[in-house]
Amino acid sequence: MYRIVSALFLAENIKKIEIEAPRIAKKRKAGQFVMIRVGESGERIPLTIAGSDPEKGTITIIVQGMGKSTKELNSKEAGDTISDVVGPLGAPSHIEKFGTAVSVGGGVGTAIAYPTAVALKEAGNYVITINGARSKDLVILEKEMTAVSDEAYITTDDGSYGFHGFVTQKLQELIDSGRTIDYVLAIGPIPMMRAIAEVTRPYKIKTVVSLNPIMVDGTGMCGGCRVSVDNQIKFACVDGPEFDAHLVDFKNLSDRNKIYQTEEKQSSESWLHECKLLKTV
Ligand code: NAD
Ligand code: FES
Repeated sequence: MYRIVSALFLAENIKKIEIEAPRIAKKRKAGQFVMIRVGESGERIPLTIAGSDPEKGTITIIVQGMGKSTKELNSKEAGDTISDVVGPLGAPSHIEKFGTAVSVGGGVGTAIAYPTAVALKEAGNYVITINGARSKDLVILEKEMTAVSDEAYITTDDGSYGFHGFVTQKLQELIDSGRTIDYVLAIGPIPMMRAIAEVTRPYKIKTVVSLNPIMVDGTGMCGGCRVSVDNQIKFACVDGPEFDAHLVDFKNLSDRNKIYQTEEKQSSESWLHECKLLKTV
């Protein structure tokens, strides 16, 4: 059993959870993830490690309650326990001194862009961060992203805070201003990562995305997380999760991620129904 040390909502439906996992806290590197099972019979959820404190022996994850398992995880509080935390899994982010590196986080993807932005800064890069959300109340990790950045930008789709528009528009604006950009890391919803790849492609800017296909074992055994990169089959859990954005088949990823949409919706609805019944007992 793994104990939750702290749990705090950063925005509606998005929770920051710190878990006691000393071995993982010591070993993990930016870009790696853990497989979590909330209860004994629960499904495995892959979640990128947003941060760790090796002294304290804890890791931090940031969870968006989307389906049954993530909503169940987000219902946990400090002092509660969860069944399994396996990791660190996946290849760490490739970090070197690129020059000017832009880290783009879309929505909850910012939680994953953040640790890599930290590693890029530590490697001596000039770090620009673009942190996008639908509206001001959904912006997460603003303080943390600003602290690690040489330049930090917030964008909101509705213009309620920062730059009015998508993260792609802010990136295009930076490119159009004549800035030299050597590296872009983009993490967020699939349409965002695909759009970022198209912004940087004409300029041949090295661009990396972190993919989030369906995962089952997280160790390269089941094939569930297969993605098509440069027309080759790769397993995101061992070959990734980070890949060259200009070589990823985003349509294939998007189609595969929809396979269990109906079952996920049913499972989430029946879990919420059970919760409501329990509250009325
Ligand atoms: P969202 O839909 O609120 O989008 C966040 C930002 O991404 C927007 O503010 C906008 O700036 C940008 N964006 C979205 N669509 C775009 C488009 N078509 N073109 C250009 N920019 C666009 O994000 P959310 O609700 O926080 O994200 C939820 C999705 O992100 C889920 O599907 C989840 O699975 C996925 N996700 C992916 C990863 C990953 O590892 N890649 C990590 C966490 C979440
Ligand atoms: Fe099974 Fe990657 S999750 S091979």
